[in-house]
Amino acid sequence: MADTAAPRQLDGHLLSLAGLSADTLRSLLTDAREFADATEPPPSLAGRTVALLFLEDSTRTRSSFRLAAERLGARAVDLTGVGSSVSKGESLIDTARTIEAMGIDAMAVRTKEACGPAVVAEGSACPVINAGDGRHEHPTQGLLDALTLARALGRDRDFDLTGLRIAVVGDLGASRVFRSDVSIFTALGAEVIAVGPTALAPGSLERLGCRVERDLDAVIPEIDAVQMLRVQFERHGGTAIASRRQYRGRFGLTRERGRAMKDGAVVMHPGPMNRGLEIDHEVAEGGPDLPRPLILEQVTNGVFVRMAVLNTLVNGPLVANTKPAGTANLAP
Ligand code: NCD
Repeated sequence: MADTAAPRQLDGHLLSLAGLSADTLRSLLTDAREFADATEPPPSLAGRTVALLFLEDSTRTRSSFRLAAERLGARAVDLTGVGSSVSKGESLIDTARTIEAMGIDAMAVRTKEACGPAVVAEGSACPVINAGDGRHEHPTQGLLDALTLARALGRDRDFDLTGLRIAVVGDLGASRVFRSDVSIFTALGAEVIAVGPTALAPGSLERLGCRVERDLDAVIPEIDAVQMLRVQFERHGGTAIASRRQYRGRFGLTRERGRAMKDGAVVMHPGPMNRGLEIDHEVAEGGPDLPRPLILEQVTNGVFVRMAVLNTLVNGPLVANTKPAGTANLAP
């Protein structure tokens, strides 16, 4: 939810989606769509260096940023927490300054703490992208979820999601993906229904601009898309769920629930998945009578979204907001 009344533009960094204007979000999504459709993207970051400062585990997000940087012709430098000076006690801000002094053009930063990337951004002149900060936000995940949904449901010309009802289900209170998803889905016009047990989805989440429900079976037939979120045992030790069987019974996307979804409805999950807990294997794979899973498309689109974000922060938007779709300037 926007903590300021006026919609924000990008301020040289991408730290959160909350409060960003629909125009800014649509500009990033339009550029991502252009990169997705381009047979050979221009090397718009040739000769540039992108640093990956990941101070929390990550496989897909880090690889995705690396691929995005490389596809635009940049060099990606991996800086992990273990072995870097952060583990020797050098502060985050000193580390970031040191990296920047080496001639870095953009930095993707993941931290265990909320707002770690914002701390780095404050002390550095180069663009910083939040690659996931504690329980706060994961802006590129929100963007890739919106891009994937819009493409699958034919809304990727104008990225207007008006009239769509999207359920986000599971471990929401601890989820940075949830916060970024609610921001972007609602900013683009969709209605978001948050579903989970009280311990994982407290009623206070309504402040973010969504409706909170407890009965997944009542919600399932009325939604156009569902995003299932991972039960994050590492964040609460699993104490928030009584038993795996009970959790799956009430909040898992089982085959039966998959079958009860509307025709044309789609299934998303940001990964990594706990198969057999929040989502059944058959539903994740898809099949006859089951809704279309978009899980691998989310991964694919993640690279295009990160290309768009990196390019926009370093060079400015690819497609001017005023141009109709399909007239992108793909020249380097
Ligand atoms: C998410 C994350 O790290 O926040 N995953 C991801 O970016 N691929 C979601 C999660 O960890 O469950």
